[in-house]
Amino acid sequence: MVDLKLSSFSPTIISNLRTSPLGSVLSELRRVCQREHIDAVMTMGDYTSIGATDRIEDAVMVMDGIINDTIGGRDIPIFGVPGNHDVSKADAVEFGDVGKFKHLVDAFGKYRWRPTPTQSFVRYEVAGADGASLTAYLLNSSVGSWSKSLYPEGMRSSIFESDASSEPLKLVDEHLFGDSLPKANSVDTLLTQVYEQLDTPYFRAVDLNDIATQLSEARKATLVVSHHNLLPQYTPRVSYFGEVLNAGYARQAFLQSGADVIYLHGHIHDDPIEIVTSPEPGTGKIFMIAAPALPSGFNKITTFFTADKRPFLIKVTFFRVDRSGRVISGNTAMSRLIPLIVRPEDLLRKDVHRLWKYITQELPESDRGIFSWDELVEHGRHVNVSEAEVEAVVLALHCAGFIEIHNFSESFESWRVEIRK
Ligand SMILES: [Fe+2]
Repeated sequence: MVDLKLSSFSPTIISNLRTSPLGSVLSELRRVCQREHIDAVMTMGDYTSIGATDRIEDAVMVMDGIINDTIGGRDIPIFGVPGNHDVSKADAVEFGDVGKFKHLVDAFGKYRWRPTPTQSFVRYEVAGADGASLTAYLLNSSVGSWSKSLYPEGMRSSIFESDASSEPLKLVDEHLFGDSLPKANSVDTLLTQVYEQLDTPYFRAVDLNDIATQLSEARKATLVVSHHNLLPQYTPRVSYFGEVLNAGYARQAFLQSGADVIYLHGHIHDDPIEIVTSPEPGTGKIFMIAAPALPSGFNKITTFFTADKRPFLIKVTFFRVDRSGRVISGNTAMSRLIPLIVRPEDLLRKDVHRLWKYITQELPESDRGIFSWDELVEHGRHVNVSEAEVEAVVLALHCAGFIEIHNFSESFESWRVEIRK
């Protein structure tokens, strides 16, 4: 970015000064897909803006080229959900509530992305290493976008029968409570106003009930992916339908299923991780992880599994653009660890047991204090636990309550591991 005060200045110099945060993010995404073992890419919707659906295919093509470039010969499965901006008025009028997603469906099909949910949810098994897999439900929260039947009768004709790019529609009460409101300069066309103020996000209740039933039968941590947030965003949102209409119902359905739900979403252009719990016995938790808008970065999510292939811990690594426009990651405070609900005995895989036995019984007592990362790697070598496996083993011991990890929020090389007395 450049703070340009002189528009007549040399374009070449300006161009040489300019940085591109989006370009940095896409380069980093390509690097991660090239160099690391990535089992799947989840995209959170809003591939375009205010219904410019003719741009969706280009967006999908660019993302696909970065994630699975043909030179690299990769074939990482890519998933995605519809965003409210991926629907146009013209498509909603012409093709109806399901058909209006046709541009998205066609683009996904052309680039062999996994089918996106339009009317009903879709369920996938995301395969990982060693036969482990994570169930993922993809859910459409944008079924209400541009749905004619949802708008008040008096507004339908002005919205759907007039030229949306001309007459602005006055939806804002300028004298609410006697206060003079700031002029909304950016809200200047009917089209923009409708998108900003009458986006009507909701989930089909039948989808929520079906997913909750399946979650309560499986009782293991599961991904649910949808475009909209389940809790109000940090920045106050002043609009008519600023929240998912049945977000509270969705939260209850997930909690009462008894399973842990890792809920991935976008929409708010912010990146909080929030956890919802209930004091009711037998309930699960909802871990809500928001993806930032792509020019700000992306998240990498790593799942750790028990011996019987149940997820016991989620690690979220942030890749974010800093003030210089470059992507930073991997340093301190750039990852978060989220333990899931599992029985402690399920955590004691054979490799976990071997290292635990070694450090608590076979080492001289004087060496059993606090371990550095290098010491743990060294001890792992003695019992056939590779350096790559030590992180998962230490995290399993931590979740089982056997050890304490000091500097837990920092990268694992900074950890100091202490045996609990
Ligand atoms: Fe959105």
